[in-house]
Amino acid sequence: MPLTKEARMPVAGVAPRFSLRSASGHDVALQDLRGQYVVLCFFPRAGAPGCRQKARGFQALLPQFSGLDGNVVGISLDSPDALVRFEDGAGLILLSDPDRAVAKAYGATAPEGRIERATFLLDRAGTVRQVWRRATGEGHAEEVLAALRSLHAVDGEVNPLIQARRAYRALSEAPVAREVLERLVEAAHLAPSCFNNQPWRFVIAQGEALERVKAALPGGNYWAKRAPAILALCSHRDLDCKLSDHRDYFLYGCGMATGMLMVQAIQMGLTAHPIAGYDPSAVKEALGIPADYVLITLIVVGKPGDVATLSDKHRELELGPRDRKPLSAVLAWNKFGDLNHSEGA
Ligand SMILES: Cc1cc2nc3c(=O)[nH]c(=O)nc-3n(C[C@H](O)[C@H](O)[C@H](O)COP(=O)(O)O)c2cc1C
Repeated sequence: MPLTKEARMPVAGVAPRFSLRSASGHDVALQDLRGQYVVLCFFPRAGAPGCRQKARGFQALLPQFSGLDGNVVGISLDSPDALVRFEDGAGLILLSDPDRAVAKAYGATAPEGRIERATFLLDRAGTVRQVWRRATGEGHAEEVLAALRSLHAVDGEVNPLIQARRAYRALSEAPVAREVLERLVEAAHLAPSCFNNQPWRFVIAQGEALERVKAALPGGNYWAKRAPAILALCSHRDLDCKLSDHRDYFLYGCGMATGMLMVQAIQMGLTAHPIAGYDPSAVKEALGIPADYVLITLIVVGKPGDVATLSDKHRELELGPRDRKPLSAVLAWNKFGDLNHSEGA
């Protein structure tokens, strides 16, 4: 079935990259604006009344947009020369997309090929955060400015997915599809690593192998026995940098991969809970992991389940607030000795 226009229009996700000739004759790439918000305004023709109105709306609010780290970029079919003459767009970054390639990449073209007046709000990481499909008329620029204002405030807080992640234990026994588990590992595999060595090796246990892994869990990790999947993360110190002063980096790389995986899991409505409580030799044998590899962690994966399946202690943790030392116990400015050791001990 062909994709509908709606489906092609990115509503979130990484914004398609581009590089286009500007009214001033220079090429401007989306990458040049990274670290700043971008309001991407598509419009069919510079001189058309609707386009003039849209451009004027943004023009009037340019200081407010720049005060929030925002750039307003107009993209149309017009040649760079025609864009120079477009007075209503003065101050905006005007770009020429003569073959509609960028408009198409954003799904901002009508079936007959015409560029539509869609507006995309991209964040400082270059992901699409909001889309207005037929963006025109009075008040549009004000609406986009209000959206940017709230985005700017939200983005200054700790990332909501990081805030939402918890090592939850109440799991449903419902299966998790193979492609979903694979997606988690895909996210983990995008972690940075020393010299890009990618030291992580995952073995996903399901079915018979999963039962053998569960048999290697101690009583305290009873809750993990409900999991529909357990991922074993193993590595070897030879798979990553070994630098001076005991800096063996394989565990570090695997830790970062686990962090990425957990954030991806939260986004997909799953719990991914790393555990150290298991018999490593038994799990290695069950999954055929070589004896000289370190089985760093098992990651217990499942959909959230009923807290009634938990012990009293775990239910209290599950429903209680997050427990963290104060930041002063782990963060010092300029001098390690300034850490609040009494809190960090
Ligand atoms: C390396 C590692 C090992 C862990 N082992 C276990 C475990 O065996 N059993 C368990 O219930 N939780 C385990 N946890 C979860 C931690 O107890 C949990 O992350 C910590 O209490 C902080 O809670 P939060 O993740 O909800 O913020 C482990 C976490 C990590 C990172």
